[in-house]
Amino acid sequence: MAGAVAAGISGASADSTLKINAGEAKAKSSPIHYGLMTEEINYCYDGGLYAETVRNRAFKDDAETPVHWSLLDENSTIGLDRETPLNDKIDVSLKWEIRSKRSSRLANEGWWGIPVHPNTRYRASFYAKADGTAGPVRVAIMDKEGRKTYAEGTVESIGSEWAKYELVLETGNVKDTDETQLVLEAGEKRTIWLSLVSVFPPTWNDRPNGLRKDLMQLLVDLKPKFLRFPGGNYLEGNTLEERFKWWETLGDLTERPGHPCPWGYRSCDGMGLHEFLLWTEDMGAEPVVGLYAGYNLNKSYIPAGPELDKYVQEALDEIEYIMGPVDSKWGAKRAAAGHPEPFPLRYVEIGNEDWFDVSGSYDGRFAQFYDAIKAKYPQLKCISSVGNEQSKWLVKSRNPDVLDEHYYRSTDEFIEMAGKGYYGSYDRNGPEIFVGEWAAHEDKNIRPWDKDSMTTFPATPGMLAAIGDAVFMTEMEKNSDIVTMQAYAPLFVNLNEYQWRPDLIGYDAIRSYGSPSYHALKMFSTNYGDEILEASLDADSALHCSVTRDSEKGVIYIKLVNPEERQEKVSIQLDGLEKVASNALVEVMSADPEDTNSIDKPEKVVPVSRKISGIHPTFSYPVPGTSVVVIKVKAM
Ligand code: AHR
Repeated sequence: MAGAVAAGISGASADSTLKINAGEAKAKSSPIHYGLMTEEINYCYDGGLYAETVRNRAFKDDAETPVHWSLLDENSTIGLDRETPLNDKIDVSLKWEIRSKRSSRLANEGWWGIPVHPNTRYRASFYAKADGTAGPVRVAIMDKEGRKTYAEGTVESIGSEWAKYELVLETGNVKDTDETQLVLEAGEKRTIWLSLVSVFPPTWNDRPNGLRKDLMQLLVDLKPKFLRFPGGNYLEGNTLEERFKWWETLGDLTERPGHPCPWGYRSCDGMGLHEFLLWTEDMGAEPVVGLYAGYNLNKSYIPAGPELDKYVQEALDEIEYIMGPVDSKWGAKRAAAGHPEPFPLRYVEIGNEDWFDVSGSYDGRFAQFYDAIKAKYPQLKCISSVGNEQSKWLVKSRNPDVLDEHYYRSTDEFIEMAGKGYYGSYDRNGPEIFVGEWAAHEDKNIRPWDKDSMTTFPATPGMLAAIGDAVFMTEMEKNSDIVTMQAYAPLFVNLNEYQWRPDLIGYDAIRSYGSPSYHALKMFSTNYGDEILEASLDADSALHCSVTRDSEKGVIYIKLVNPEERQEKVSIQLDGLEKVASNALVEVMSADPEDTNSIDKPEKVVPVSRKISGIHPTFSYPVPGTSVVVIKVKAM
């Protein structure tokens, strides 16, 4: 932090005035306003947060060939074998026939490389059987040419029945690299069958089957209050069969068949319901759980009535897994998985974006789920889809507790919405609003779901989009008495391949970074009070603002966003305050609209913190062009 810089005291030469009523709070803000939304998209779990480094570890990604696996020599052959499966869930194995007495090497390319970090212990394991006794089998992380070894271990012998083999691989003082592959090496004329080949680096909180540490750190730094999962489209699946069957994602990895995800690849479901809940707990957040509600992305649906009962029961069972007592059927399974305490569930969402169901069946489907949930768990709040806009309510026969609105809009559109005071007119006696998915993009003619989006812009948004995000956040935050929750989406993108942009956080196998939008969100979510203060800017000011106060600490968080490229000096009047601390902390993120962060320049656009002095109840501050600013003033 640089030394204190004097703020102007007089407002005389200011371009505009911001009047804040600090005498009394306008409303209480929502204590859970800032959260996260997640689903399997852009290799977000597999190849992302889920720390497994082996790709296609169970050989189920392709029905014909062992994709992402190859042989480094001609001493053996590989192929899928459905006659020798590990079990009925992992119903295929890799048959590795070593024909020569010389050793042969089998390689996995990982998720665009196996992440190598210095002095790191990796937990490796695989299931195997052989046509007799085989071995030794060497397991190594090697460079792409198969010459340099970064870490290795050996299993001395493989028996003739399926068994799990475990070993530790440890790197020395090497440099970070993802120019790597996993190599299994065996000799003798033997056939070896393999299943569930796995290599985990150290994980967040050291959980087995856990999460990537750098990505978790980025999330924890946002201080999220909730996590909405498992989608999104991922909840619904393309077909009924491909919906998120939460019970098939539980238990030992050998019990998880995996399933196709609607974003064009297969999910191994190592990241299942229990892992989502632990993830939530590890962030100090609460779960907001999407319940499958009878609609699939291919537009098929289960009509309300007896046919839907089975799916309502699935949802009730899921809730029981999350929060039921240990002597309930599903609560007992949670306890057996190591978590006897119920998870703190308060919100469930019935379906996702059901406005795509043009049959009009959602009202009836929602009502059936709502009635069953309220009968058993009256304390739970039920979230409903809306018709994409507040004006188009989809549910008429019940009063949803919360409405889930989604906004993927251009920066200009968000500025227009905020300029009109979009949420100001919402009925304070109506349902809570959850903006369950939102993000700004740069050009309203190229939407995130358009193919051109991926070829025209980088995966993560730049400063122009961050300005749109920040402007929309001012609008949501100053109305956070009614907009009780909000979450940017999507959260993650693997930069090697993706299906949607813009995304908040980008990464490859070894590196990760937050976009300018990530930093804007962090500036907002980590500087947030429990009271909303009335604040108004001159009508012709280009700025957007939101002001909250921490009533315990007496700190007032003044957020200002300048979408214009020229600086705007604002006179800030804190009405109703006699005295404030003479120094204030300021966070400023300012850049050219086209500036952005990338994997090679991860910190080109980041906020800078500094102290300013000479603060009075009226002071002026020059808000830089294209910037997001948080000023923290302490009342005395
Ligand atoms: O966030 C990407 C997708 O956008 C979500 O899966 C879906 O809910 C929405 O259409």
